[in-house]
Amino acid sequence: MIFVRSAVLVVLATVVASTSGYAQSVSATPPMGWNSWNHFRDKVDDKTIRATADAMVSSGMRDSGYVYVNIDDTWEGKRDAQGNIQANEKFPNMKGLADYVHSKGLKLGIYSSPGAQTCAHYEGSLNHEEQDARTYAAWGIDYLKYDLCGLRVEMKAAPSPAAAHKMMVDAYIKMRDALKAAGRPIVYSLCQYGNDAVWEWGTSVGGNLWRTTGDITDKYAKMAEIGFSQAGLARFAGPGHWNDPDMLEVGNGGMNIDEYRTHMSLWAILAAPLLAGNDLATMTPETVALLTNRDVIAIDQDKAGKQGDRVWVEGPIEVWVRPLANGSKAVGIFNRHPGPLSPSIDLTRLGIAGKKARNVWQAADVSLSSTYQETIPGHGVIFLRVAK
Ligand code: GLA
Repeated sequence: MIFVRSAVLVVLATVVASTSGYAQSVSATPPMGWNSWNHFRDKVDDKTIRATADAMVSSGMRDSGYVYVNIDDTWEGKRDAQGNIQANEKFPNMKGLADYVHSKGLKLGIYSSPGAQTCAHYEGSLNHEEQDARTYAAWGIDYLKYDLCGLRVEMKAAPSPAAAHKMMVDAYIKMRDALKAAGRPIVYSLCQYGNDAVWEWGTSVGGNLWRTTGDITDKYAKMAEIGFSQAGLARFAGPGHWNDPDMLEVGNGGMNIDEYRTHMSLWAILAAPLLAGNDLATMTPETVALLTNRDVIAIDQDKAGKQGDRVWVEGPIEVWVRPLANGSKAVGIFNRHPGPLSPSIDLTRLGIAGKKARNVWQAADVSLSSTYQETIPGHGVIFLRVAK
């Protein structure tokens, strides 16, 4: 009986996999992991990646759902006589590194550009797309961030904005097809800073996620500018294809704990990829707690895959709501003012009066009445998971 049941499950799983398609198989929920850029910039090397993989396991991040260890720009070396891309001296053995990361139950990501050069002026993939995709597959790469940068030089020479747009779209399609031909499931992350409303066409060029904005920095003003500008984009996200408001800055030291809680809460409501951007090997227990809060991760990774949106604004107070799979809702009441405020929120208007809820950051169960009034710290948030 057990055997029969598992055989049926295998058949069912196969049907689901073939109907839901390749995109969903690699990113049914927003990708979680780490990326080297925000903290290490051009200092990333083999040792950093191994130490990060070790720390992802020992800190409990892997068991909380973080899986991708992504090398950003500056790993690229020169091409060999046959045109094969090689890593530079910082990465003496990419295949060995992938094997190490995989041995920890994690996955390895890499970075390139459709232009001749990357943003940091390293070798890009222009005219080597298929060859590079084959190299990544042979190394055991699981995730590619494909950053427009260098191609903008070629795009400037295009006869019209429409021709430049087509050049960009074609470049993304080219790498999508190259990855597919290489035959290894690789998450395809588009990075072109949200230009030309990428959310409208990112799925059609094979993107599993696409950056919706310029680069984040470790400052409240920039994080908030990016996060709160995501209103209206919810309908473009879903299983296999996500809006990406950029990587996390949690733990890098430029924001206080209330600001980092806002960062995590907003990203979870946005169904954003959670790619930590700090030094995992030296992070504090406070940073681990921010990154691995179970309620926050459960909201971010909610199976329905519906992105949340802003539902209410009053001066510096914004209320954002994300519908969750079982009819419950994630509700963020954000205070964008630098000092504390105690707004009175009409919960009847939000349809959550009288419901049971969990205050995520206080780790406390609460019963909601018809209004909610509590002091929200400057730049802080009250983050609730409200039951059906
Ligand atoms: C761009 C991207 C960043 C990072 C750098 C690397 O600025 O948006 O996320 O990848 O390039 O050079």
